[in-house]
Amino acid sequence: MSPLILALGLLAVPSANAATIAMEDQSQLQPASHAAVSQFRPPQESELPDNAYGKLVREGYALFVDTQRLAPKYVGNGLNCSNCHLDQGRLANSAPLWAAYPMYPAYRKKNDKVNTFAERLQGCFQFSMNGGTPPAADSSEIAALSVYAYWLASKAPLGVELPGRGYPDVAQPAKGYNLAQGAQVYQEQCAVCHGGEGQGQKVGEHYVMPPLWGKDSYNWGAGMHRINTAASFIKHNMPLGKGGSLSDQQAWDVAAYVNSHERPQDPRLVDGSVEKTRVKFHANDGVNLYGQNVEGVLIGQGIR
Ligand code: HEC
Ligand code: HEC
Repeated sequence: MSPLILALGLLAVPSANAATIAMEDQSQLQPASHAAVSQFRPPQESELPDNAYGKLVREGYALFVDTQRLAPKYVGNGLNCSNCHLDQGRLANSAPLWAAYPMYPAYRKKNDKVNTFAERLQGCFQFSMNGGTPPAADSSEIAALSVYAYWLASKAPLGVELPGRGYPDVAQPAKGYNLAQGAQVYQEQCAVCHGGEGQGQKVGEHYVMPPLWGKDSYNWGAGMHRINTAASFIKHNMPLGKGGSLSDQQAWDVAAYVNSHERPQDPRLVDGSVEKTRVKFHANDGVNLYGQNVEGVLIGQGIR
């Protein structure tokens, strides 16, 4: 069977019940115990065949790195997939696609069901990209992105967790985190690129540095809103080009500072109530500030 037919065969499964999919689950991966850089090497673009399969891989790649421009219907903020999955979804310890693809479908305790790869992609559209109704499981967008991930995972073992998957866990420091110190780290090491107010930087209509909070960033339902997840991402990947340079404490402090700012509302908002949403979706979702008071201000009110 050709890889294209195989990939499309896998895709045909979720499309049957696309309308009934509930994408409530943004639960984090089991924390990886190691930050070892993987021996796994995804294929190079030069290895792509010049046929229909190669064309679809290229379409998926383009969507992944230029999501806002190519799929505006499904993107409600200023981000592209590759802003959080660095190096075009290839970088170890930056939730690379080659480590993700072979792990689905996967049972996830939190929503008590088996999640397909298409559903995982839909979740990132809905929350990380603040995109409203995500592309259907049998849409051309999900097909292209899935085929791109399938190709990056060529020759990877199925169902085996490869080193470098996800954003390896950075344990919370014994003293917790400190927002004031986080603000200082931010101004010294992040603001030069992401802006003094987390607003990112634009050239014309296009972001060249992604926003970290405010209306054009990830929403309150996204995995990155968890301080522990953001600390792990930041520790391994930021400041850009200097991953690993922050102490665990600095990574936690600055992650907490970033995630103490307003961003678009959690699309799962229950009865218009931040408190009900906190209880249902945030009370047991890692470390986060949604629905809490910080210096007398309720966090999680959302921003348009
Ligand atoms: C704001 C940052 C952000 C953006 C933008 C983003 N993601 Fe993610 N993505 C995450 C986080 C956080 C996780 C969960 C990782 C964890 O729990 O350790 C994740 C998980 C995933 C996974 C599962 C990884 C695994 O190993 O199981 C896939 C696949 C994925 N994202 C694809 C995408 C696609 C496709 C897009 C664009 C449509 C996208 N992401 C946009 C942050 C982001
Ligand atoms: C040299 C410029 C630069 C510096 C300094 C920098 N970043 Fe980034 N950051 C980027 C770029 C560019 C991306 C997107 C990467 C890509 O698309 O390949 C990014 C992505 C991110 C993201 C995920 C995308 C989003 O918008 O949420 C977070 C979170 C983040 N950076 C936090 C930080 C923090 C915290 C610091 C300081 C410790 C920092 N960055 C320092 C350039 C920088």
